[in-house]
Amino acid sequence: MPESNSNSLDVRTALKQGIHLLREAHVPSYTLTAELLLLHVTRRDRTWLYAHPEEILDSEIIASYFSLLRRRAAGEPTQHLTGKQEFWGLEFEVTPDVLIPRPETEHLIEVALDRLAVRELRAARDPKLTGEGLTIVDIGTGSGCIAIALAQELPNAKIYATDISTAALVIAQRNATRRGFSDRINFLESDLLAAFSDVGARYIVPVLTSQPSPGPSSHQSPVTNHQSPLFDLIISNPPYIGRKETSTLPIEVRDHEPPSALYGGEEGYELYGPLIPEAARHLNPGGLLVLELGHNSLPAVRPLLETPEWTKVHVTNDLAGISRVLSAERTSL
Ligand SMILES: C[S@@+](CC[C@H](N)C(=O)[O-])C[C@H]1O[C@@H](n2cnc3c(N)ncnc32)[C@H](O)[C@@H]1O
Repeated sequence: MPESNSNSLDVRTALKQGIHLLREAHVPSYTLTAELLLLHVTRRDRTWLYAHPEEILDSEIIASYFSLLRRRAAGEPTQHLTGKQEFWGLEFEVTPDVLIPRPETEHLIEVALDRLAVRELRAARDPKLTGEGLTIVDIGTGSGCIAIALAQELPNAKIYATDISTAALVIAQRNATRRGFSDRINFLESDLLAAFSDVGARYIVPVLTSQPSPGPSSHQSPVTNHQSPLFDLIISNPPYIGRKETSTLPIEVRDHEPPSALYGGEEGYELYGPLIPEAARHLNPGGLLVLELGHNSLPAVRPLLETPEWTKVHVTNDLAGISRVLSAERTSL
């Protein structure tokens, strides 16, 4: 075993030993992972790493590096060790309280922006979107990656983001604050869209990191019954893995990501059942619903859009050819 905690390890040797350790543990992308962990502990960038192979690392850095390598080898996701993940070209804080944003979720943003632009073209308006006049909600916001990417792309849109997990909303709000979007996105603790229904509106709990959340009864809600908005875009990456698939999941996912972000039910597609009719009740005519799908969700979910409330139903595949995004337009019925 070449691993060393010697206080005279240089960058090249540390990297080689890290790669070896992770390869032996069958960690996917072991070279990239060793690099990322070394960059994280040295707080340097990749250019520095390869320009200074002879640089001697100090013993504290070496100890932290090998500690992270061992945790990664035991199954902890790299993003939990570095505390971050890139999505839509932006860096997001991630913790075990939120799903690590996945590259395939970027298709959701692409489809939403494309369909909003097409709507503008059909109405003979400028398809260059600013979000002016648009009200959007991201259901199950997790790290906030979808809401924040949309806030970046649509600077004039009014954006809401819900999650059933208070802990996730705290992270989402921190991510929004870091990007300067905290006043642009209204984060609400809610079961799907319950916060916007007559009953649910009484239970809205805004998640403010700067002050403790008041109890539901004492709280001044930012959305009251008569103010509850109708949306122009409802977007969601809901939990869609089946509990029956648990044993097939990689350890990084099964043992380290929040179950409420992973499992939709025994089969996986259960949450789409209430989500789609709730979305129909909360969209303006011509409003858009954009949903991420699990690898086998389409046959169960598509029929839910075969009702008079929906038209122009599209399926978009991801780069692996999997039906990944289901989108539809609310009719005026
Ligand atoms: C698959 S994760 C998606 C997170 C993030 N939007 C993303 O794309 O990375 C699903 C999120 O939905 C939340 N969630 C689960 N059930 C929910 C419900 N009934 N209502 C609102 N949010 C829910 C989970 O807490 C989790 O944050």
